[in-house]
Amino acid sequence: DKGGWPSFMAKEVSEEPEAVANTLRGRIHDGVIRIPELDGLDELFLGIDRVIVIACGTAAYAGMVGKYALEQWTRLPVDVELAHEFRYRDPVIGASTLVVSISQSGETMDTLMAVKYAREQGAKTVSICNTQGATIPRESDAIVYTHAGPEVAVASTKAFVAQITALYLLALHVGRVRGTVSAATAEELARELESVPAKISRILETEQSRIEQFAHWMADTRSVLFLGRHVGYPIALEGALKLKELAYIHAEGFAAGELKHGPIALIEPGQPVFVIVPSPRESALLHAKVVSNIQEIRARGARVIVVAEEGDAAVLPFADEVLRIPLAGPMFEPLLAVVPLHIFAMGLSTAKGLDVDQPRNLAKSVTVE
Ligand code: M6R
Repeated sequence: DKGGWPSFMAKEVSEEPEAVANTLRGRIHDGVIRIPELDGLDELFLGIDRVIVIACGTAAYAGMVGKYALEQWTRLPVDVELAHEFRYRDPVIGASTLVVSISQSGETMDTLMAVKYAREQGAKTVSICNTQGATIPRESDAIVYTHAGPEVAVASTKAFVAQITALYLLALHVGRVRGTVSAATAEELARELESVPAKISRILETEQSRIEQFAHWMADTRSVLFLGRHVGYPIALEGALKLKELAYIHAEGFAAGELKHGPIALIEPGQPVFVIVPSPRESALLHAKVVSNIQEIRARGARVIVVAEEGDAAVLPFADEVLRIPLAGPMFEPLLAVVPLHIFAMGLSTAKGLDVDQPRNLAKSVTVE
């Protein structure tokens, strides 16, 4: 039931605030994180010396965001691997490796095979999954469910923000168990995390119709590029994937620092480029680097659309379009920055008269390898 929305995707994007709130629910008490599903697993988390995150598609981009959080708060080395690439080589893993799988459906065959393989090699496995009783969680030592609710549209939206939320919780939990995050820091971060759903709601209220209008004007666009740094990089990749899936146009995401190593050759007058701008308050250095990347592409004629924090005036002289997001802690920006990109992809698909919920050639759950 679309509940009055024009598509399941429109409904599911509107549910992004709840997807985050429901994934946090019952796991933060007065600023203290406790994930009941992970009770009794302290030994497991104390016995690991590295983490490998495995997933496919959008779930893998959530995993890339999770890498920053896991490394920052657990001080463990973290790699993110596409499940199908991980499975068919001879990865160096063992009893002290924690393999975190991420899957909305819990049935993705590539991810399932990778989890089974990791277990056979003696690795510990935690699954982040949105579907109760699915196969992947059954094959894992522990499960952290995302509570995004059923996701019907083939393109993943609310499950993505829920996956990132679950990864933050997992990272903070493991950090507390291992003593790499202080109680005070964890509390401060938990409270910031709790403020995210209302901030997503604000983006939907203030920016959605403007972004849809803007997508409408861009209906004839044949190629869109996305740039980001740090946690903005996986968000650039996610923005590009959504546009490929929903609007069938060429879209690519790049790490902004990679521009001068090749992709800048693609910039010609009129080329639309979305840039995810990190918060100037949180990292003046990263922010300055991204602003300088914007200047580089603008000088070559790019049409620059920035996703930037409210109040960030430094981007104004170089942006053709500014999509605003509220202030968040540095780690939590992805949960906000992705929302305009989901709206944009949906808007462009609608403007082109395409089926937003069921794009051609795609299945919701990929149960073959
Ligand atoms: O069910 P899963 O989370 O395991 O699915 C993984 C990918 O197949 C999925 O995220 C896919 O990339 C979506 N179509 C993205 O919108």
